[in-house]
Amino acid sequence: MPERPYVIDEMISAKAIAARIEDLSHQIRSEFAETDKLVVVGLLRGSFVFIADLVRELDLAIEVDFLEASSYGDDMESSREVRILKDLRGAIEGRDVLVVEDIVDTGFTLTHVIKLLKSRKPARLRTIALLDKPTRREVDIRADWIGFEIPDEFVVGYGIDFAQRNRNLPFIGKVRFTDEAAK
Ligand code: IMP
Repeated sequence: MPERPYVIDEMISAKAIAARIEDLSHQIRSEFAETDKLVVVGLLRGSFVFIADLVRELDLAIEVDFLEASSYGDDMESSREVRILKDLRGAIEGRDVLVVEDIVDTGFTLTHVIKLLKSRKPARLRTIALLDKPTRREVDIRADWIGFEIPDEFVVGYGIDFAQRNRNLPFIGKVRFTDEAAK
């Protein structure tokens, strides 16, 4: 994608994210209270900050694993074709699994990942997404827990990138182009 100048406008503060994760962690703890070892699966790379904060709020016996599915590449549009670039290290058959996603947009990625993981026969499979853009949905899917519903804006920060940049911002911000084409 050609370089276009942009600024980032804060949309969700670091404080609001932390408070929401604390709320969600209570619900997740009660859902999995009886589980002896929950497998928390982070979808790379966008969920790496979210999963790090989330697991530290979960006072449960957990294992962490990662799965990488192809998504946007360097583009701002979903490719709609999902490929697994890195698979889990461990088996999940008979286990309770929580999939952690950064954003559900068209829904293709989460749908594909759920189908794949269900084929491995976990005991229970639940999903959590930090952000949800319901107006962009093309496949009928919803995560079991959602941090924030957001409008159709391209966002970055808190692990989420634009062409691999801005993952290290502590908040979620929206990308606003500042060149002539944006006016
Ligand atoms: P989906 O398959 O269209 O639901 O796309 C999910 C993936 O697209 C997310 O895990 C992100 O990696 C990426 N994505 C969707 N929206 C955005 C965005 O606003 N900023 C950056 N990446 C995004």
